Amino acid sequence: MNFQEKQKLLEEIKRQVLGCKQCPLYLTRTNPVFGEGDIESKIMFIGEAPGFNEDKQGVPFCGAAGKILDELLASVGIKRSDVYITNILKCRPLENRDPNPEEISLCTPYLERQIEIINPKVICSLGRYSMRYIFEKYGLKEKLEPISKIHGMVFGVQNLFQELKIIPFYHPAVATYNPHMKEILKRDFQILKTIK
Ligand code: URA
Repeated sequence: MNFQEKQKLLEEIKRQVLGCKQCPLYLTRTNPVFGEGDIESKIMFIGEAPGFNEDKQGVPFCGAAGKILDELLASVGIKRSDVYITNILKCRPLENRDPNPEEISLCTPYLERQIEIINPKVICSLGRYSMRYIFEKYGLKEKLEPISKIHGMVFGVQNLFQELKIIPFYHPAVATYNPHMKEILKRDFQILKTIK
């Protein structure tokens, strides 16, 4: 698929997301957050759900966790605009509570289409929910372990005719008040240097 075709398909899904009323989160959202970045990137980051700032601006990872993500990317020489960033849920759960199973199942068809169209070589999950969703989607259920055990590890799966790498990372928000976790995340992100 060429760039224009990808762009057109993604615009269409974005339009659907902007008008989505599939789950009650539409009642309390300010803006859905579709995702942004290089639609031809090899690397796709998948977070959990928009927070306060993302909901206000309609942009993924634009608050405190986003600052950390930018810093982590910069530490391995990757610009934010070189990757594609989105979330499992497109609308903010109030009080930033965890996504519930019904929201995940209603919202992830959008994400599935984004993954199909962007067709990344590497999917980096950010946080437990995203990790679980991606592991289940790609038949890695038996490999699922607590994130404290498998963060930063690379899992290869055969996706149609190509190899896809899945890397679960801690959610950058864990580092907002914990410098130790930031160091772990930084160490884990080093793996991306081998992938560019
Ligand atoms: N946390 C997430 O998981 N996603 C965002 O977009 C912002 C914060």
